Amino acid sequence: MIQEIKKHFKTHFEGEPLVVRSPGRVNIIGEHTDYNEGFVLPAAVDKAVWVAVAKRNDGQIGLFSVSYQEKMELALTDIQPSKNWPTYVLGVVDQLLKRGYAIGGFNLVLDGDVPIGAGLSSSAAVECAVVFALNELFGLGISKLEMVQIAQKAEHTYSGVLCGIMDMFASMFGKKDQVIRLDCRSLDYAYEPLQLDGYKLVLFNTNVKHSLASSAYNTRRQECEQGVAWVKAACPEVNSLRDVSAAMLDTHVAPKDALVYKRCRYVVDEISRLQAACNDLEQGDLTALGQKLYQTHQGLSSAYEVSCKELDFLVEAVKSESGVLGARMMGGGFGGCTINIVQDQAIANLSERLAESYRKQMGLDLSAYIVTTSNGTALI
Ligand code: GLA
Repeated sequence: MIQEIKKHFKTHFEGEPLVVRSPGRVNIIGEHTDYNEGFVLPAAVDKAVWVAVAKRNDGQIGLFSVSYQEKMELALTDIQPSKNWPTYVLGVVDQLLKRGYAIGGFNLVLDGDVPIGAGLSSSAAVECAVVFALNELFGLGISKLEMVQIAQKAEHTYSGVLCGIMDMFASMFGKKDQVIRLDCRSLDYAYEPLQLDGYKLVLFNTNVKHSLASSAYNTRRQECEQGVAWVKAACPEVNSLRDVSAAMLDTHVAPKDALVYKRCRYVVDEISRLQAACNDLEQGDLTALGQKLYQTHQGLSSAYEVSCKELDFLVEAVKSESGVLGARMMGGGFGGCTINIVQDQAIANLSERLAESYRKQMGLDLSAYIVTTSNGTALI
């Protein structure tokens, strides 16, 4: 990839670029918990975004996307949200400028193999790659944690999704063979070895991304905030769903609004489920972990209502498979992938049969990826 991206750079721009790689992510459990100050358990994967950048001295930005075969040029002073891929680059530039970092013009080529809209956080990978590359290029001295926060803010302001911190954190801090147990309130984190003896994490991609995704995401956030506000009125020490128990929800939220109750209840349950899942992983109890994945899916589908018929179909279809310990939808929802714990020897045959029934029932192609973990954002 490094030679290829350098070649593309030379075709479109001048100079010798520096190259940065930033991976996509999976999340084992802890979904829609990050913006509620809960825990998450993501890992960086072997599919990544690559950027090549070099300075230019006329205050202009030149961008080229290899995947889209599109080029654009604009002045650093003309930055504004744009459509599609440039917005993720420009959102980061905007954040750097707003924070007073001294960046000048540059040329940038974007490439990579993170499937887009598959729930592997290709946009977070782009944002992390860009902020890391510009930090290197202009010697800005920004810490990794601040880079993560810049990337997250870029997503909020330039693509309008009020995402949590998980995707960027996983892309930036990922480590090969490890998952990250991240406390999204304190941002303390610990690496836990991913030991799945005889099993692998397999993603089945629905190959759909329903348009509801970003608006419904923001609505879920508001519903959680509403629940917190009602609890807080009676219990002022409460600041997020992290501080809330099921009993508090029963008392302070259930009488007010059944829908908000349902949403908050899922999150509160998921926060404690993750703690238990970490113990399962530590003890190598993959059967127990797998059961929790199914429970999470159930909650995401019926209480949090961020699944869709394609995701539900794929989870339902593996439940009777002896080679599968657990499965659930992964990421924001409304499409993308399911994550599955599958016995090594069962993967090939299962993928084939599942693709066949998915095509028959949903009229769509299914893609399968075996997850390999990787290191986080780095200069190559
Ligand atoms: C998306 C967001 C993350 C997180 C997940 C759901 O991937 O970007 O911050 O909220 O959805 O867990």
